Amino acid sequence: MNYNRILITGGAGFIGSHLTDYLLEKGYTVRILDNLHPQIHLNSEPPKYLNPKAELIVGDVTKRSDWQRALVNINAVVHLAAAVGVGQSMYQIERYVRDNCLGTALFLDILANEKHSIKKMLVASSMTAYGEGMYACPKCKLKQQPGIRDVNNLKQNIWEPLCHKCKTQLKPIPTPETTPLTSPSVYSITKKAQEELFLAIGKAYQIPSVALRLFNAFGTRQSLSNPYCGVAAIFLSRVKNNQPPLLNEDGLQTRDFVHVRDIARAITLCLENEQANYEVFNVGSGIPVPIVELARVCLTLYNSSIQPEITGKFRSFDIRHCFADISKLKRLGWQPAISFAQGMQEIYEWSKTEVAVDLVQKAMQELNNRQLQG
Ligand SMILES: NC(=O)c1ccc[n+]([C@@H]2O[C@H](COP(=O)([O-])OP(=O)(O)OC[C@H]3O[C@@H](n4cnc5c(N)ncnc54)[C@H](O)[C@@H]3O)[C@@H](O)[C@H]2O)c1
Ligand SMILES: [Zn+2]
Repeated sequence: MNYNRILITGGAGFIGSHLTDYLLEKGYTVRILDNLHPQIHLNSEPPKYLNPKAELIVGDVTKRSDWQRALVNINAVVHLAAAVGVGQSMYQIERYVRDNCLGTALFLDILANEKHSIKKMLVASSMTAYGEGMYACPKCKLKQQPGIRDVNNLKQNIWEPLCHKCKTQLKPIPTPETTPLTSPSVYSITKKAQEELFLAIGKAYQIPSVALRLFNAFGTRQSLSNPYCGVAAIFLSRVKNNQPPLLNEDGLQTRDFVHVRDIARAITLCLENEQANYEVFNVGSGIPVPIVELARVCLTLYNSSIQPEITGKFRSFDIRHCFADISKLKRLGWQPAISFAQGMQEIYEWSKTEVAVDLVQKAMQELNNRQLQG
């Protein structure tokens, strides 16, 4: 094992805690730097699932001294701490840029200017950085990545992106890593910046760096009381509270759900495998799931007779479809092992005994107040 002492920033969160368990199981020593942000952690208390074998430093990635403390005797960093949420990022612009961009910059600045023992570093980027994924035109066969959809089309319920040449409705195809990042939201712009900063400083100082573009993570421990991210957790929280899942547009937009333990394995593989150095990888299931299907699965699991509510509303910065081409990471020996159905059954069992405060109306009001939802 080349890098045995790992710092996971955001290690108390959803993905970080699963990664912590997985790395500890594999014999690594794990330290966590996490500020226990109250949007994720009730009363800013350490979560009960936190592995006692990990060392927790409560601190903030926007403070240089917290990074310095956390980096002592560490030889690899997995940087997951971030403000996470597409809609919220459109009005908490300062917080998103500070936590995600400044947080990353401070770490890299330490590498460039101070003594350190870091031999590898990995950052979680996001599929949201692509904007729309790749599509093909069924008529003129042209492959293309459409820009963000025209608001005038959305107002007329024209939800599918149109071919830029012949205006036919496009069909989504797998999105490879070579697709341009057109990042339509503040969150996705910060993720693009984090990714590029890691790769640029890594290359300049020859510290192997990797960026993983995570698709929609799902699994246990995703906060059921955070209405700003994690559509599977948001829907389960609604259903548990006897409320219908609210579907924007017509509900037929798709997302690629990848299980959190599959993500933990992908991160570990890229940490251990030198062929991953200075590369970017998609981490997804490669399977598009319509959002209405996710809602139906949540309702069926809870044996509910409620119907999903199709609102016809839209957010101009949302994308219609993007699912991963995962062939690049497959070539390193990874593939998803947990299916959507298996994963959903598992979250359902877990959610039964979890506190789920439904704050969806509050989150929607915040968007409505700013005319961010049509
Ligand atoms: N969940 C997804 O579907 C998804 C998809 C793509 C990318 N990602 C990325 O993966 C990473 C982890 O996401 P997650 O879903 O586990 O989120 P999460 O919110 O569950 O975890 C993030 C953790 O970071 C901590 N944190 C937030 N701001 C911090 C700060 N300034 N200093 C220190 N700690 C801070 C929080 O307390 C939390 O424990 C993020 O970088 C996110 O952008 C997640
Ligand atoms: Zn066409």
